[in-house]
Amino acid sequence: MDPFTIRLIDHNSDDYRYEVELRHLILRGPLGLSFSTEELAGESNSHHIGCYFEGELVGCLVLRPVNATQVQMRQVAVNDLVQGKGIGKMMVKYSEALAKSLGFVEMVLHARETAVPFYEAMAYTKIGDRFTEVSIPHWSMVKVLV
Ligand SMILES: CC(C)(COP(=O)(O)OP(=O)(O)OC[C@H]1O[C@@H](n2cnc3c(N)ncnc32)[C@H](O)[C@@H]1OP(=O)(O)O)[C@@H](O)C(=O)NCCC(=O)NCCS
Repeated sequence: MDPFTIRLIDHNSDDYRYEVELRHLILRGPLGLSFSTEELAGESNSHHIGCYFEGELVGCLVLRPVNATQVQMRQVAVNDLVQGKGIGKMMVKYSEALAKSLGFVEMVLHARETAVPFYEAMAYTKIGDRFTEVSIPHWSMVKVLV
């Protein structure tokens, strides 16, 4: 049996607070950045996805609707103790299926340059030029959900 469980997280729930902790640990903290109250309040209409191992959150991903057809994948983070075990890929696949079931036809994202090969391996394509976000190099990437 697969030891990992993937499920949705309610905004502002206790599970959501663990999600924000993980995002801080993996994404923002190492850059010396943090989340503002406004930024987190603005996530109430996003879909929050968590991956659990023995009841503990080990990975997360956020889907933010952009318009009727496009949805943005953001805040993809896997606890560094369990990276490279397929959790990131599992969450991306789950989020693509969820996005399709909600009627979205295109996934867009801002990939950290270090994570571009991870997304390319799942058929995401770079578009435009490299840009800086949260102080580090990023690329816009896109995938049509078929
Ligand atoms: C990037 C990240 C989400 C990937 O999740 P993960 O669980 O470690 O990755 P997976 O084990 O699911 O890897 C899936 C595939 O991508 C490859 N891959 C993962 N990270 C990679 C990287 N940085 N560069 C190249 N390939 C990578 C794996 O080798 C694997 O290939 P395979 O399917 O042929 O075996 C995770 O490593 C992470 O949280 N990194 C730090 C935060 C971050 O950069 N987040 C992304 C922000 S855009």
